[in-house]
Amino acid sequence: MKRVAIVVASDSGYEGTREDTSGKVIREIAEQNGYRIVHTVLLPDEQERLSQELAYLSDEGIADLILTTGGTGFSPRDCMPEATKAVIEREVPGIPEAMRFYSLQFTKRAMLSRQAAGIRRNTLIINLPGSPKAVRECLEYIISELEHGLEVLA
Ligand code: MTE
Repeated sequence: MKRVAIVVASDSGYEGTREDTSGKVIREIAEQNGYRIVHTVLLPDEQERLSQELAYLSDEGIADLILTTGGTGFSPRDCMPEATKAVIEREVPGIPEAMRFYSLQFTKRAMLSRQAAGIRRNTLIINLPGSPKAVRECLEYIISELEHGLEVLA
């Protein structure tokens, strides 16, 4: 069973002023598709902390797949794509391209998501947008194809 780590970037969630529903949606969809959740963490929108967490989870071999949510938009604090690109060794542009293309039918604002994806060691890291609705739409679309990629990566 492939192992998933969930990394939520949210200043308000970290401060405890907003409940993390997006992380729960990731958990629900991943479990329904046969993945095991091994780690969930909620962090503020700080690039260095997010990068450190992504690198740690990859380098220690804790997760085969890291799914992040939040911090992909234009707000000055949004830095998840930068945190991801700083630690990946190989970029996987097709996954964010596919999510954005598919998402345009729901909202043309999907073009505003800067989500990235890539590989560090044997771990695939994928950014999802922040809202529970966007997480569901994006993850349900891509999840069936991830298994093949993770098999090849292992
Ligand atoms: N993608 C899907 N599938 N559904 C959505 O509702 N919302 C968009 C976009 N991607 C959306 C989506 C919006 S409104 C924004 S601003 C960006 O994701 C960035 O969101 P984030 O800053 O919460 O990561």
